Amino acid sequence: MLQVIILAAGKGTRMKSKSAKVLHTLCNKPMIEYIIEEALKLTKNVHVILNHQFENVKNIVSKYPVKILKQDLKNFPGTGGALKETSLEEEKILILNGDMPLIQANELKKFLNIDADIVMSVMKLNNPDGYGRVILENNKVKKIVEQKDANEEELKIPYVNAGVYLFKKEILQKYLPKLSNQNAQKEYYLTDIIEMAVNDGLSVKAIEVKEENFKGINSKKDLAKAEEIMCKRIKEYWMKLGVIMRLPDTIFIDAYSSFEGECEIESGCVIKKSVIIESKIKSNSVIEEAIIKNSEIGPIARIRPKSEIIDSKIGNFVEVKASKLNGVKAGHLSYLGDSEIDKGTNIGAGSITCNYDGKNKYKTKIGKNVFIGSDTKLIAPITIEDEVIIGAGSVVNKDVKKGALAISRAPLKIVEKFYYKFFGRKD
Ligand code: UD1
Ligand code: CA
Repeated sequence: MLQVIILAAGKGTRMKSKSAKVLHTLCNKPMIEYIIEEALKLTKNVHVILNHQFENVKNIVSKYPVKILKQDLKNFPGTGGALKETSLEEEKILILNGDMPLIQANELKKFLNIDADIVMSVMKLNNPDGYGRVILENNKVKKIVEQKDANEEELKIPYVNAGVYLFKKEILQKYLPKLSNQNAQKEYYLTDIIEMAVNDGLSVKAIEVKEENFKGINSKKDLAKAEEIMCKRIKEYWMKLGVIMRLPDTIFIDAYSSFEGECEIESGCVIKKSVIIESKIKSNSVIEEAIIKNSEIGPIARIRPKSEIIDSKIGNFVEVKASKLNGVKAGHLSYLGDSEIDKGTNIGAGSITCNYDGKNKYKTKIGKNVFIGSDTKLIAPITIEDEVIIGAGSVVNKDVKKGALAISRAPLKIVEKFYYKFFGRKD
């Protein structure tokens, strides 16, 4: 049986962030979650080692059926130190760094199929900066030298340690107590076990892996690169299932969104935590925590959380928040917040639901087949019943009964020839 140990206790200094490194998100989802999910595909026995921002990280990690442990970072810092507190429970132990969110269970399975005392992973990179270098001798791994401990020659080596290792339990039991912290970072490096094992004549095998699956995140630049890869994976998944994407490189779709039926997403859209069903999202629209079914949204529309839009057409510069729209047309420049709008209703350009009085938020209810003239202000709480007409430019602050016309308009004054009186005649 297999035990997976995920190392996520480090400070992540190079991220230069208030947030713990492993909580930084790729496509809206904390990186540690991706790793845990892949690990759980391999075994039920997953341990996660934490320390830095213990409570914050624990809050996220404890959603999963994993064992959470706290590293003694003060006395035993480093990736080797992280394993001091852990009970080694299975014959084979797979160690994963907590900052490699692109790993996939299928890639990790390759490690399990190799028979050796230690299986490790190597990447050949044009720019090995930040990684530990793998020193080879006669094409065999000799040792790993951390970047901060490497000399000039070693820094030029393109082979790096990807940060995944499969150990036989007795190897860890034997060598963990022997690690020393006599190095540039005064840390107990897990990677030093490799050299000790090689010197003792044990079998150390290396698999060559690709950075697109094993990239380690140390900086915000790394984070951006990894997010690009993750977002591409997500988009390719949905395209395979029939979603049309126009210039997909410009589209952001998070890990929590889903699509049903044939949808089309134009360039520049951002879609987070949403369900899109048989709909077209036109360019540069932003949709968050919404359900959109059989509708057309955008271009340049913003659909905010808790919105449900069915059989509707939402045009440019329309913002919808916490609203249920069913069979509605809102073509231009509107704000529809905390509202419920029923079938056949048309919202004229520039109409606003005034849902906030500075203290509280209130609801707007609009019935079926209502015609809201352009530039209408509906002061919530308010109910507009079915088959109502609201005249353009009205400020409506009372409920309107079925079939009525509501119009509020200051009388229009026309002063003949006033222009010439004011500016003088131009001839
Ligand atoms: C590590 C490897 C390096 C490899 C690289 C791959 C070591 C000594 N070096 O370097 O050879 O090329 O990963 O990405 O292992 N952590 C703890 N406790 C600690 C320190 C770190 O749990 O005391 C965790 C971190 O939270 C992180 C992971 O271990 O998730 C890796 O730590 P990091 O500091 O990023 O190691 P690298 O310098 O990248
Ligand atoms: Ca790292």
